[in-house]
Amino acid sequence: MTDIDQDSELISVTIDGQEVNVKSGEVLIDACEEVGVDIPRFCYHKRMSQVGMCRMCIVEVDTGRGPSLQPSCMMNVSEGMIVDTQSEAIKKVQDGVLEFLLLNHPLDCPVCDKGGECPLQDQTMAFGPGETRFVEEKRHFEKPIPINDNVFLDRERCILCDRCTRFADEVVGDPLIQFIDRGNSTQVNTFPEDPFASYFSGNIVQLCPVGALTAKPYRFKARPWDLEEIESTYPNPLGDRIVVQSSRDQVLRLQGLDSEAVNWGWLCDKDRFSFEAFQSEYRLDNPLVRGGGLNKANKLGTGLVAASWAGAMSIITESLDGVNPDRVAVIGGARLTNESQYAWAKLAKGFIGTDNVSADLGDELPPDILLGLPRATIADACQPNSTIVLLTSDLKEEYGTLYIRLRHAAKNLGVNIIDLSPVETALSSDAAVSLHPLPGEVGNVVEALVTGDIPREVGGISGEEISQAHHIIKDTNVVVFVSRSSMGQSVIPISEALTSLQQLDNCRFIPLVRRANTMGALDMGMAPGLLPGRNSLSSGSSAFSDIWPNLPSEPGANTKQILQKAANGEIDTLFLLGADPITDYPDKSIAKAALQKVNTVIAVDLFVTPSVYESDVALPAASFLEANGSHTNVEGRITPIRQKVTAPGTARPDWMIAAEISHRLGHDLGIDSPEDVWEEINSRSAVHEGLDYEQLAHDDNGHLITATGRIPFIPVTERVETRPIDSYAMRLIVGKRMFDQGIVTQMSPSLCSLAEQSQLRINQYDFNRLGIQEGTQVEVSSGGKSISISVKVDNRVPRSSALIYANLEGADPRELLSDDEHSIDIRIDPTVKGTA
Ligand code: SF4
Ligand code: SF4
Ligand code: FES
Repeated sequence: MTDIDQDSELISVTIDGQEVNVKSGEVLIDACEEVGVDIPRFCYHKRMSQVGMCRMCIVEVDTGRGPSLQPSCMMNVSEGMIVDTQSEAIKKVQDGVLEFLLLNHPLDCPVCDKGGECPLQDQTMAFGPGETRFVEEKRHFEKPIPINDNVFLDRERCILCDRCTRFADEVVGDPLIQFIDRGNSTQVNTFPEDPFASYFSGNIVQLCPVGALTAKPYRFKARPWDLEEIESTYPNPLGDRIVVQSSRDQVLRLQGLDSEAVNWGWLCDKDRFSFEAFQSEYRLDNPLVRGGGLNKANKLGTGLVAASWAGAMSIITESLDGVNPDRVAVIGGARLTNESQYAWAKLAKGFIGTDNVSADLGDELPPDILLGLPRATIADACQPNSTIVLLTSDLKEEYGTLYIRLRHAAKNLGVNIIDLSPVETALSSDAAVSLHPLPGEVGNVVEALVTGDIPREVGGISGEEISQAHHIIKDTNVVVFVSRSSMGQSVIPISEALTSLQQLDNCRFIPLVRRANTMGALDMGMAPGLLPGRNSLSSGSSAFSDIWPNLPSEPGANTKQILQKAANGEIDTLFLLGADPITDYPDKSIAKAALQKVNTVIAVDLFVTPSVYESDVALPAASFLEANGSHTNVEGRITPIRQKVTAPGTARPDWMIAAEISHRLGHDLGIDSPEDVWEEINSRSAVHEGLDYEQLAHDDNGHLITATGRIPFIPVTERVETRPIDSYAMRLIVGKRMFDQGIVTQMSPSLCSLAEQSQLRINQYDFNRLGIQEGTQVEVSSGGKSISISVKVDNRVPRSSALIYANLEGADPRELLSDDEHSIDIRIDPTVKGTA
């Protein structure tokens, strides 16, 4: 692993007769690559520890004591070193290593998925023996065997390079694949009865230098020479960089791209295998309208039927004709590219004249937190000896590649983690201090931690533990990762904690969002009271008024207020931009009531979600694989999204739909391509100044927009009173799993079966206290509402807390939530009603 300081001094070495300058301390194989000398390798990977397993990288090195054969992946450069990568001795070594690796290797190339992109095949051609001297019978194993739902292992092809095993153990902490047996019988395998149940299993397929590991979604679909590829960005909150590979206008594989700033080449399975969803037969590929053109006021229980774009557009323009702009609203937009978000913000605010525009779905942090705090980058957080504070949910579940980066920093760079998540997370065991405050009390715990004014106990945490964290946090650079860790806790306790943390010197923040491009949506003005570039409607409208002629004068409603207004009959036309409030908004009943009451609901989406099903017009949009644009991640890093395939049917980019509606309303949106947006915004947004859309495509790390233009953070001045928890009650945590009932997961055949059933998880102590049995169906109630759910012991959950993951099949914890409470206390009726 090459965690060397980017500013390290240069030293002089001689490689193949050329004197070159390389960074001191660099691994020799990397130093050679940087000066254009490529050394063959199998086991070395710059993001993992060096093991020297394959010996393919041997070179001749003279450090003053005469030349010797050394594996270049196991040696750092030193001043004056003389390296020969081409000598006769090296050629003989390479020939011998390859002959050895091929002793037991099957002659599978014609039927092997790796053929055409196989380092073993390529290096055998370049450096290997023409023929083998091995005439004995080769080893045989059953081939291939599944090691989880999506990955197959062919042990005959394995060259024991230790990449998959190192990745599982070192990189993601899932040591579920190992070498077993000895000597000639050594094989890589999972444990009996224990599959490779890792959220990151696709990475070992990408890492494997041979065809021993293959992924079900790609197996036998194409040959590498049939593939075309393009570099792009996966629109998740981290903006993971990807390579999209397709053949005959069909995406066949997503691979991680090694972006130094973001994902280091890794991807979680949810993103890697999600491409299948976008070619699902259930994609919305043509407009649908209710009852052949009637809106809700006229409909008689008719459903959605196919329509032309012209037909759908005339319903939309009719619904907007003469309507009071205050009675129009837009919910959503986080799925969209930055450019589409700008186009929709301009249509809604600049032409229709409504500020009821909100990308939030009631489960994000508010704009003052997302845009009001001094921001850091992931690289800042991972600086040696800095401190990371986690005011988040389990990063492994929701932000997979960020989890990998922070785990690496804690294990290898001396970064201290203070974990304040409501339940024990995958990073807790790597944390210097792991505290789990009761929901609603995190503000009090953080105040004590920051000020050093520490009571004996607060929020379920002992003063001693808080004091330990207090000593770590003093006098270091602190980066706080903050998210809506639980829907069972309001934003107020989080704001309290952030208010305290801002008293620290050298404290910066990375606010984490739930949806793909929420940060871009805010930067493009898709929130009430905001205009692009973090300008406020009140003070920044002069920068836009010439091209956004109908800007409203007063701030509009957020999603919560829009849904309430809609349910009260105060909204006539509602746009849903890739938003499904019925599934995602915390209060499902108000979301349903709102959609039923609005005259015309216009959904722009990829699938017929429960909310699209309730709409009056559904317009098919292009996915991130089918349209150009850009994405803003949680750091404020803008990276390109590039079209690889054609959108299905008549689906089109979201910005194009906005431009068409605008045209039909008699306005020219002035946007004929994504580039037009940047031409327009560059001169009006200090935040985006200097951003060159074309240049974006040439930098893996994208363009980090400046931290200027923050909107004011609203500090909490009055503390919420802590509510003692009575001995019969437990405090509810509503978390998120990587695989759930989300539409993309459910539309991907490889992922849809990975989501579990909804369960109530409590600590063994509480389990015994309540006298219930694992799998028992219990009644969980709060404030007159109740659900029936089975119970599971989970010792990651602190005593007196209870965890339910949202959006899983079965009981829905949203039924227990209340807008008025900072935390939710539940009662568990252990009356046995049967077993799950
Ligand atoms: Fe051929 Fe490479 Fe497959 Fe081995 S792993 S069978 S060398 S393509
Ligand atoms: Fe290496 Fe692939 Fe074998 Fe794993 S399965 S040890 S990655 S060759
Ligand atoms: Fe150096 Fe394998 S790459 S020993």
